[in-house]
Amino acid sequence: METKRGIFITFEGPDGSGKTTQIRLLENELLSRGERVVLTREPGGTPISEAIRRLLLDPANKEMDAVTEALLYAASRAQHVAEKIRPALEAGAIVLCDRFMDSSIAYQGYGRGLGDDVRVINEFAVQGTLPDITFFMNLPAAAGKRRAEERADLDRLEREGTSFHEAVYEGYLQIARRCADRYVWIDASQSIEEIAARILREYDAYVLARTDDK
Ligand code: TYD
Repeated sequence: METKRGIFITFEGPDGSGKTTQIRLLENELLSRGERVVLTREPGGTPISEAIRRLLLDPANKEMDAVTEALLYAASRAQHVAEKIRPALEAGAIVLCDRFMDSSIAYQGYGRGLGDDVRVINEFAVQGTLPDITFFMNLPAAAGKRRAEERADLDRLEREGTSFHEAVYEGYLQIARRCADRYVWIDASQSIEEIAARILREYDAYVLARTDDK
């Protein structure tokens, strides 16, 4: 019997929007239902991708050119997809990924101003493996930056100024408009419990619609 492809779910949003908390809550719920879940993150997720992550986020790498940055995110993603995400989906797992290629389109495409080339290199990187659902944690740039700043040890990207984060936010608005079929907007200013319940409702609705298609 052929294994049914798993479900690829990504979480996106500005720094400090609460993605990581929500992704863990969804993981726990799905595990308690007996689902096979792979939780991963970008940049990272495999040893090679984590090595690239260290290069990308180290505040000491002040000289990093924007094109280099975009290619490194894409390279990290290519390895992550080939080694971990695609095999997990082929084995029927639910993959939950904290950030994916929309982060590159928002941060490098809009934040750094590299434009549509970022989408092109990322389509090459992922070789057709694209998310089924994307939860976008909507938090206006300023609020996200404030939340992020409350944490110590800001990474290289988080140290960027307000105009960078505003451009990133604008990027997300454009992507969400373009990819409305897979985008779910979440008001990240709600309580953790309200957000978790909404995410679960959307997930269940997706699974139901997918079953109906068969
Ligand atoms: P992450 O560790 O997920 O930070 P956060 O907890 O704030 O979500 O991501 C690290 C940084 O990398 C974050 O500021 C966003 C940035 N980033 C990009 O610029 N492009 C990308 O493709 C990805 C995946 C992340």
